[in-house]
Amino acid sequence: MIIVAIETSCDETAIAITKNGTLLSSLISSQIKTHANFGGVVPEIAARMHLEVIIPLIKEAMGKAKITPRNISALAVTYGPGLLPSLLVGVDTTKALSFAWNKPLIAVNHMEGHVISGIAGLKNKKNIFPLLCLTVSGGHTEIVLMKDYGEYTIVGKTLDDAAGEAFDKVATLLGLPYPGGPEISRMAHLGNSKAYQFARPLITKPGFDFSFSGLKSDVLRFVKKRKRALTYHEKRNVAASFQRAVVDVLLSKCTRAAKEFKPKTISLAGGVSANSLLRSEFTRTLSHAFPHATIAIPPKELSTDNAVMIAYVAEKKYKKKDFADLTLTANPNAML
Ligand code: KG4
Ligand code: ZN
Repeated sequence: MIIVAIETSCDETAIAITKNGTLLSSLISSQIKTHANFGGVVPEIAARMHLEVIIPLIKEAMGKAKITPRNISALAVTYGPGLLPSLLVGVDTTKALSFAWNKPLIAVNHMEGHVISGIAGLKNKKNIFPLLCLTVSGGHTEIVLMKDYGEYTIVGKTLDDAAGEAFDKVATLLGLPYPGGPEISRMAHLGNSKAYQFARPLITKPGFDFSFSGLKSDVLRFVKKRKRALTYHEKRNVAASFQRAVVDVLLSKCTRAAKEFKPKTISLAGGVSANSLLRSEFTRTLSHAFPHATIAIPPKELSTDNAVMIAYVAEKKYKKKDFADLTLTANPNAML
């Protein structure tokens, strides 16, 4: 089974080719430098840039994987959630290739991709369900209960901003470039996380939902109160204290959900799972609280957007013959 997977949900054009679970090639063309000039992703520019590189990138990935169209079992594509103009490029390209090469088409939900990337590094994937996945990306923050492949229940979600969005907004407040997550993480490394006590919304409230807009406003209030530009020293401490607050909230809700749902596996996924503090604290806190559960975090290259996760989901769908037809369209608000 050879899958060619295509991901264009935001500002990364990504192609991955797998053969029975083994990665043959994976390429990512990132648009970050272009969007950094605007302080965030501009959807129309993103679509145009996807259009420019998508076919050459598919050709290059097929060359690296040493395959021709004849070898392909199916083509897979992210249909949502994401930015509509970006998604449309991937969906339309994949439909055209599926039609031209007469290959089945597989529609993959981007968030399912992230959840699957969370367990990609596990050597033994038998007996892993029920699985609880803390999925933290730029557009989503969810606790997902997975009973089997394709069976997901969202048990908690953000009521306003996603965690990644909060990282990006606070980075802008501190004058750091887009995307802010990795920048905050770098600054935080040099700062004191106890310097300021920022709000930790909903942390003591029952339930598994999140809220990050109050935390963002708290940082904004702090910056405004200074009535002058923050010193480099202060910025490092704000970054560290903010990052600590996000990690505390994420871990407290995830721990509470794990107590309730008693999963065999607890995993982490999404762009924010590239954050070093979150990765180390997730493993430390959850393995201590749930010594009998398997704790899984994605390899760093599978934390942020990529097409390998799309190919892994597509392999499961291929086995079930879960194919889409040529009327497939992009859905920017697709749910798990
Ligand atoms: O999953 P992803 O690549 O794209 C979406 O599906 O949204 O996530 C992107 C988000 C951005 O908000 C980015 O700032 C954040 O992940 N991010 C990080 C780190 N690396 C990426 N946040 C905190 N620390 C990081 N090291
Ligand atoms: Zn993503």
